[in-house]
Amino acid sequence: MHIDKYERYWLIIVTAALGIFFAALVAGAVIFGVRAPDRIELINPQRLDLTEFANPGIYDMGDNQYTVYMVASYRRGWIFDAGQDEKLNGKNQVLRFPLGAQVTFFVTSEDITHGFIIEEHNANLELVPGQVGRVQLTFDKPGTFHIQCHEYCGSGHQTMWAQIVVQ
Ligand code: CUA
Repeated sequence: MHIDKYERYWLIIVTAALGIFFAALVAGAVIFGVRAPDRIELINPQRLDLTEFANPGIYDMGDNQYTVYMVASYRRGWIFDAGQDEKLNGKNQVLRFPLGAQVTFFVTSEDITHGFIIEEHNANLELVPGQVGRVQLTFDKPGTFHIQCHEYCGSGHQTMWAQIVVQ
């Protein structure tokens, strides 16, 4: 079969590009731990009172392991509600963990789509009402890290954050 010279070049370039993309995918998953968001459960966002999200909070599971139930909400004043009394600006909650804590976050939105990232950590969720996002992290460096909403969610979007303190 005769293949034109330029056609052959393009076949080689396209095959090489696919190989590079596939290698990047494998490297991302294996070396950098990139994971697709974990969608574990569907709930009724209007009836969070019937779920674990009725009592947002940090739950000590022992052995330096914690489970966090957190509600992202503009109705509560553009906050991540983790049931914490310690607040900045009168609303932005502070979550404190000891160094080395292994934390599983369960996060949901009760109204509209919000985002959830933790700076300097591999945590990035899109919070669609009715869906529960889960991410598990180990906090192995001390410091202050922000949880930030990264989906535009209205006039208070840029004030929607919480703070994690690892000490
Ligand atoms: Cu919530 Cu932007």
